[in-house]
Amino acid sequence: MSEVYPVPDAVASAALIDNARYLEMYEASVNDPEAFWGEHGKRLDWIKPYSKVKNTSYDPHNVDIKWFEDGTLNVAANCVDRHIATRGDQVAIIWEGDDPSEHLEITYKELGQHVNTMAGVLRNAGVKKGDRVTLYLPMIPEAAYAMLACARLGAVHSIVFGGFSPNSLAQRISGCDSKVVITADEGLRGGRKVPLKANVDKAVETAPVDAVVVVKRTGGDIAMQDGRDIWYHEAAANAPDFIEPEEMNAEDPLFILYTSGSTGQPKGVLHTTGGYLTYASMTHQYVFDYQDGDVYWCTADVGWVTGHSYIVYGPLANGATTLMFEGVPTYPSPSRFWDVVDKHKVSIFYTAPTAIRSLMGAGEEHVKKTSRSTLRILGSVGEPINPEAWNWYYNVVGEGRCPIVDTWWQTETGGILITPLPGATALKPGSATRPFFGVQPALVDAEGQILDGATEGNLVILNSWPGQMRTVYGDHERFVQTYFSTYKGMYFTGDGCRRDEDGYYWITGRVDDVINVSGHRMGTAEVESALVAHPKVSEAAVVGYPHDLKGQGIYVYVTLMEGEDPSDDLRKELVKWVRQEIGPIASPDLIQFAPGLPKTRSGKIMRRILRKIAEDSFDNLGDTSTLADPSVVTDLIDNRQNKS
Ligand code: WT7
Repeated sequence: MSEVYPVPDAVASAALIDNARYLEMYEASVNDPEAFWGEHGKRLDWIKPYSKVKNTSYDPHNVDIKWFEDGTLNVAANCVDRHIATRGDQVAIIWEGDDPSEHLEITYKELGQHVNTMAGVLRNAGVKKGDRVTLYLPMIPEAAYAMLACARLGAVHSIVFGGFSPNSLAQRISGCDSKVVITADEGLRGGRKVPLKANVDKAVETAPVDAVVVVKRTGGDIAMQDGRDIWYHEAAANAPDFIEPEEMNAEDPLFILYTSGSTGQPKGVLHTTGGYLTYASMTHQYVFDYQDGDVYWCTADVGWVTGHSYIVYGPLANGATTLMFEGVPTYPSPSRFWDVVDKHKVSIFYTAPTAIRSLMGAGEEHVKKTSRSTLRILGSVGEPINPEAWNWYYNVVGEGRCPIVDTWWQTETGGILITPLPGATALKPGSATRPFFGVQPALVDAEGQILDGATEGNLVILNSWPGQMRTVYGDHERFVQTYFSTYKGMYFTGDGCRRDEDGYYWITGRVDDVINVSGHRMGTAEVESALVAHPKVSEAAVVGYPHDLKGQGIYVYVTLMEGEDPSDDLRKELVKWVRQEIGPIASPDLIQFAPGLPKTRSGKIMRRILRKIAEDSFDNLGDTSTLADPSVVTDLIDNRQNKS
């Protein structure tokens, strides 16, 4: 039996939703989704109201997902313009710089001016409705302005995280045929500069664009190419003050975000306008119990979906005050998060288990010297949170006062699907607990049979919700294959999951060849293809293994070309290579040189065995009788890499 933390009465009575209300609303949402979402879609301002609410099919012959399909609206008008009359002088974005001496407070009125200016600059650079624009930006307010400016013009943004290499950036620019890139001279993280513009220069050698808009952040020395590169501050001086928001259909694309899968290149996850914003805004309000006067801080980067839905779109659609942080949790000291909480009176704080674990390691004195008295709600996202980290977050950071919402979702889901609600849900450390309104999770066995009661299986979702991705950009067949073909008529999440006797869900991790490194999702196939592109590598296999700080680490098995000798220098060279090919977030943690990999007689690599060896559980390798050469296993075990 796991520990249970009931909702304190005081929390329940002050919250938007208590348990009785949750049960009632949940039931209504799954019994009559049309009526439920028809009502909640009204939280947005529509130009032309919808008359149709839901039109969705998970039939693998005809996967088609449409919400509010005859309504029209503009996302930027919903996130900015509509708030100006009622809360123009309220702070919309608090920006906290990498250096603690720098911060900004941007009101809704000011946000409106900035978004219009950015939209004007983009329009002058030739951006029109439907065009794709790639953003490769640090965590500065201009990142939010650029997202909203694209939305205002009806252009589709594709954000590439600043930790990706020029090569990965190039793939993502050409993947969606972007003609404009927005970047900064350099980023600043933990006192170190990130050469963003220089990376763009390299990327556009292979993925040419018409224009690169450059925001000045550090003033560092960069090259500007005449006729292509535009300084944002110069172009802003010549931009119109006002750009009419484009009238968009609810199903027009809002953004593309590339994410890793179990095979091939990253997929361009496509989200659309009306359903996405309805879902992001509603989940932001209820999951975090956001109420007027709260100061809300999500520590993610806008390069990931968490930053899209829960730094920018959800909070701003709700007229919230959202904090945007440029830096890292440990700079200038491990008390930075809590210093920022005190400095800006943060009441809702949302972060990832990997950050919690690293701060836990630094010692609680860094927490205890701060007040944190404004905190009311804590959140977690990205990977299962281990009970030690949960307890530390709850007791040391939250001093036992603040519920932790452990939110399970994915890039594909657009918003949170399984989560506690602060005033409604008794907590169990490590469990994402219960489904949000309208979400129907189920567990299935390998054949797709739905399992009842307390059990364990593969997590699927039985019916659509408004925030769901609509397609893989340019490859609908891949969308159908990836998500709707494993179990017919169901959305397959790729996660394994347990359900307990109270109906609580416990995510156990990916069941495909995707690994989760510090909350970042990585396809093992991508790392493998980077490795085999190295001239000295003949074959490579990549698996995850349990890592104290990162959740999972990257374990690489490499077979070298004939005549190449293993060495520590070659290990370093391969790490550097992968960083160049994909980016620092894909750096291998351990590399084992393997003269042979375990393969079936038909030549398929048996990853199950490699995973076990990387996890040090080689007493339990399972059936090895189908191996072409069973002796390779002994060699792999003897030469396994040390984890300490
Ligand atoms: C995968 C999705 C959704 C924002 C961040 C990651 C894992 C996410 C949790 C959680 C256990 C979680 C799953 C999921 N995951 N949140 N609260 N508990 N696992 O988005 O990069 O698309 O990764 O992250 O494995 O499938 P993403």
